[in-house]
Amino acid sequence: MWLPSRRQLCWAFLVASLFSAASFFLHLWKGSLPRRLAFSALCQRQCPGLTQVALFCLPGTPRDPNGSLGLPSPAAEAEPGPRGIWTIRPEGRFGNQMGQYATLYALAKLNGKRAFILPDMHATLAPVFRLGLPVLDAEAAARARWALYPLQDWMAEDYARLGGHDVLQFTGFPCSWTFYHHLRAEIRREFSLHAHVREEAQAFLHWVRYSQGRGGRLTFVGVHVRRGDYVELMPSQWRGVVADRAYLEQALDWFRARYADAVFVVTSNGMKWCHENVDGSRGDVVFAGDGDEAAPGADFALLAQCNHTVMTIGTFGYWAAYLAGGDTVYLANYTLPDSQFLRVFKPQAAFLPQWVGIEADLSPLLP
Ligand SMILES: *[C@@H]1O[C@H](CO)[C@@H](O)[C@H](O)[C@H]1NC(C)=O
Ligand SMILES: *[C@@H]1O[C@H](CO)[C@@H](O)[C@H](O)[C@H]1NC(C)=O
Ligand SMILES: *[C@@H]1O[C@H](CO)[C@@H](O)[C@H](O)[C@H]1NC(C)=O
Repeated sequence: MWLPSRRQLCWAFLVASLFSAASFFLHLWKGSLPRRLAFSALCQRQCPGLTQVALFCLPGTPRDPNGSLGLPSPAAEAEPGPRGIWTIRPEGRFGNQMGQYATLYALAKLNGKRAFILPDMHATLAPVFRLGLPVLDAEAAARARWALYPLQDWMAEDYARLGGHDVLQFTGFPCSWTFYHHLRAEIRREFSLHAHVREEAQAFLHWVRYSQGRGGRLTFVGVHVRRGDYVELMPSQWRGVVADRAYLEQALDWFRARYADAVFVVTSNGMKWCHENVDGSRGDVVFAGDGDEAAPGADFALLAQCNHTVMTIGTFGYWAAYLAGGDTVYLANYTLPDSQFLRVFKPQAAFLPQWVGIEADLSPLLP
């Protein structure tokens, strides 16, 4: 096998860097780069730790732990390391893409393959997290002859035997800890927040701590109330419901009974509904979310920095709970038993066994 010398690699890298810088500014000049990608690439200097946009990838180029392109050390060159180019199609919003990222990470590792994310996924997740997986250049991704592999939403035995594919693109909406829970420390590291995102969330919680005037020590419970399109979609498409007022009362009471110093930090993409339906009269509820669906990072960081979680439905709340890592209360059985939803969603593979489910009230769906 021909191995380029270090010197050749250095030259190739230099040429590639110049080329990618030139093409980056060309894109920028033409205004064709997605806003967030441009932002994240531009602010690499100002925000150390933000994953570098690998606009250009040399074959065989590994990453150093800081997320930038590095040259292989002589020792690394000699090792038989992971091969191939695996990726996953970014579909859906923030929480879906977190599930896709974590699943790609785990399945590539399991099969000894190298994982790359596509630029759209980078644009969604990299403003918030210090992602470790490198980004595939859009042109290279368009040229690659992908074998497409649709995933079901939870782990299957077959997924451990995909080593025959070297250029593979997963599709689907995997949402299950069964893919990656054995790697949870690594998944948590992949989804560690950028310092400025974490600090903004901590500053808010700090303000809550003192404005509550309860001696400073509090137990923070993040509450995520999924509203928006799902208010319509759940009944019309899935024969299901979203969380109602009674569920939230029960969920908050579950925590009040266990933590005398609990304070609830409510975020939602329907804050108006929350103000009207989450009882704030005890003084232990803070309405915090800005509900900005285009930039959900601030809400997510707030939830993930809380100690415990109340979720309703949806992958956004799931991921906040998974990363917060405390007690979690979720809405259970929120579709009728004959719903098509249960063909694509397996509750026991989605909710961790130690999480606490509260049965949804399905009566609004009954005649
Ligand atoms: C990563 O960054 C840290 C801090 O900037 C530095 O000390 C370390 O040497 C870097 N690691 C590599 C492999 O470049
Ligand atoms: C609870 O969360 C706050 C805010 O992130 C943190 O400062 C505190 O250490 C956490 N408490 C526990 C017991 O983990
Ligand atoms: C949801 O329904 C299943 C099947 O009927 C049941 O076994 C389970 O206990 C229910 N979950 C909760 C949290 O009530």
